[in-house]
Amino acid sequence: MQMKKAIQNHCTELNSIQEFNPQAVMGKFTRVEMCRACHSSTLHHFLSFGLMPKPNGFLTKQNLNKPERYFPLNVDFCSTCGMVQLEEVISPNELFDHYVYSSSASYPMVEHLRNLAKELVTRFSLSQKDLVLDVGSNDGTLLSVFKQLGITILGIDPAKNIAEIANAQKIPTINDFFSQVSAKKILTSHGTCKVITIVNVLAQIPDWDSLFAGVKTLLHKEGTCLIEFPYLVDTLKTFEFDTMYHEHQSMVSVHPLSIALRRHCLEIFDVKHDPIHGGSIRVFISHIGVRKICKRVDVYLDEENTIGISNPDIYSAYATKVYEIRDEMIQLLNSLIHQKKKIIGYGATAKGNVLLNFCRLNHIQISAIVDSTTFKQGLYTPGSHIPVVSESQLDKLNPDYAILTAWNFADAILKKNKQRIKKGLKFIRPYPIPTVL
Ligand code: TMP
Repeated sequence: MQMKKAIQNHCTELNSIQEFNPQAVMGKFTRVEMCRACHSSTLHHFLSFGLMPKPNGFLTKQNLNKPERYFPLNVDFCSTCGMVQLEEVISPNELFDHYVYSSSASYPMVEHLRNLAKELVTRFSLSQKDLVLDVGSNDGTLLSVFKQLGITILGIDPAKNIAEIANAQKIPTINDFFSQVSAKKILTSHGTCKVITIVNVLAQIPDWDSLFAGVKTLLHKEGTCLIEFPYLVDTLKTFEFDTMYHEHQSMVSVHPLSIALRRHCLEIFDVKHDPIHGGSIRVFISHIGVRKICKRVDVYLDEENTIGISNPDIYSAYATKVYEIRDEMIQLLNSLIHQKKKIIGYGATAKGNVLLNFCRLNHIQISAIVDSTTFKQGLYTPGSHIPVVSESQLDKLNPDYAILTAWNFADAILKKNKQRIKKGLKFIRPYPIPTVL
């Protein structure tokens, strides 16, 4: 199938990127030839962001003048199953060995994970003898709630620095990628799991077959695997395109996921929507035939079918809108810069780095980004080289405008800045169209 290419005035040439960032060099990547969910080769390009640095590749001051690796960021959809995935992937070790994201840095996330753990303990009547495994357990924020509730816990996370933090806080964490191989080791050392949680991690895992073979191996015969991820259908409706980046290799919906699970004799028995991260779903999975399938599963499958998640038209319209949003953002900021307004970013997020680099904004236009994560502070954003500082610097910075680069926590951020807003600080929300709030 030939997809009509949407506007392509973005930049894919390294020498053009070097005008923006003289340190830019090409990094290594691999092309994806087969759909991760259904294994067909019917992948079609629909969106290009050009060359991008790693979304969480924050730099120290010393590294600002060293070569910075850039990678192509292109997005495909699969016309067989409707899976959306990146065209090129970077080695997982390059992305995850050292990590700066911390679940505990965003208090709405802490609250969200606390409620999730409580819900799972109640719904599946978990007790102390039951093991809960959290895949991509980060600093142990979710597991710490299970622990408080008296449940036996285990985490697994590939980031050495983050696993060390979790272990120091007495959240037992294996420093490894979750796979069929590591699952077999866990089975030997800990036995089966009554619950396996995979929260905001599915998009980061390139090999779904190894992932689901691992879940199949470890899941208790009456156990539940809970996967939560930003929902493709919401991303398509809200145009929040900056969640597509090198760590998020898949933008997932129920249909392709159910195909991949069935290959491993696993099935979805329930689906629930949650507003977090611009719209996510929680998918409840069991061994095939163990649980009654909830009617809600068909409701999601029907909606995906009605929207047409395998239909090229929806993706070509989406891409056109993405380029429009980028152009509007550039226009809005240019006009503010022309008026000599001071602009900062709020939240040094990976998605914010996609937006800033896509719009070719850097430290000249955006003087700083505030962020609550202690280990991001003192670093510089990848590509755009904007200093990251703590929120306590806000009054000293005294900006006129703050771009909500952590738009997913807009409510919490606006609430805590009520007084500053009264005094004249204005926030810019990028989606669905850049708007001054
Ligand atoms: P995330 O969108 O990838 O979850 O990251 C959210 C980022 O926003 C994280 O680095 C912490 C930061 N943040 C703040 O700086 N202040 C806040 O009030 C909140 C909620 C988040």
